[in-house]
Amino acid sequence: MSVEPSNVPTHVAVIMDGNGRWARARGKQRHAGHRAGVRAVRATVEAAAEHGVRYLTLFAFSSENWRRPEEEVSNLMSLFVEALRREVAELHRNNVRLRFIGALEQLGAGLQKKIAAAVDKTSGNTGLVLNVAVAYGGRWDIARAAQALAAKAAAGEIDARGIDEDAVAARLALGGAPDPDLLVRTGGERRISNFLLWNLAYAELWFTDVLWPDFDEAEFGRALADFAGKQRRYGHTGEQVEAVEC
Ligand code: FPP
Repeated sequence: MSVEPSNVPTHVAVIMDGNGRWARARGKQRHAGHRAGVRAVRATVEAAAEHGVRYLTLFAFSSENWRRPEEEVSNLMSLFVEALRREVAELHRNNVRLRFIGALEQLGAGLQKKIAAAVDKTSGNTGLVLNVAVAYGGRWDIARAAQALAAKAAAGEIDARGIDEDAVAARLALGGAPDPDLLVRTGGERRISNFLLWNLAYAELWFTDVLWPDFDEAEFGRALADFAGKQRRYGHTGEQVEAVEC
């Protein structure tokens, strides 16, 4: 399915849900679902780049996912290390710039090292920016920005009364990236689950029952086609937006 380039979202954020149910439906361990999820990540990165999406932000592990059984958390961490080992060279060849957002200091030293190396290797790339959210929570992000601004105010470097939306946004993990235009969530649930709370303020939301390992280019195309039909008003009336478009 192709979408007019002008209607392609600049930034797509994805909550990849349904790996566990995908595995259970096949009589497999949850980990098999996460492994299959990596294949869907690869397909989605390729599809996003082909459609001209500039930023793709994937929710790989939330602040709350630490509460999962120890074995699942440990398997997921090993999977992230393996995925980095296997995928970074190909991402680099495809001019993808890899970034990670989240409380990365909570991760094991080996994973942190692999992340830093991947970010460094791809830092000069000019194609798709792929943000992977690990140990990430929207509330953590906003609290951290508030903390940084409060420290600056306490040190007399900024005036607390001058702290505005732009100042907060600049301190968030996504920093200078544009806000997501489209949020995709697989797996049938219709919630934000503490993802990018600030940045999703004006995102179009697209939910699908498809489980993450089954998410493919056709399903991504459906999300983009739905997005292309939306009128984005940002508080204006439909008539105001139409007048500008004419
Ligand atoms: C949610 O499904 C999925 C996760 C918590 C992990 C997502 C991780 C991947 C897709 C693996 C690879 C990612 C990268 C970026 C290499 P769930 O386990 O909550 O599924 P359920 O709701 O069916 O139980």
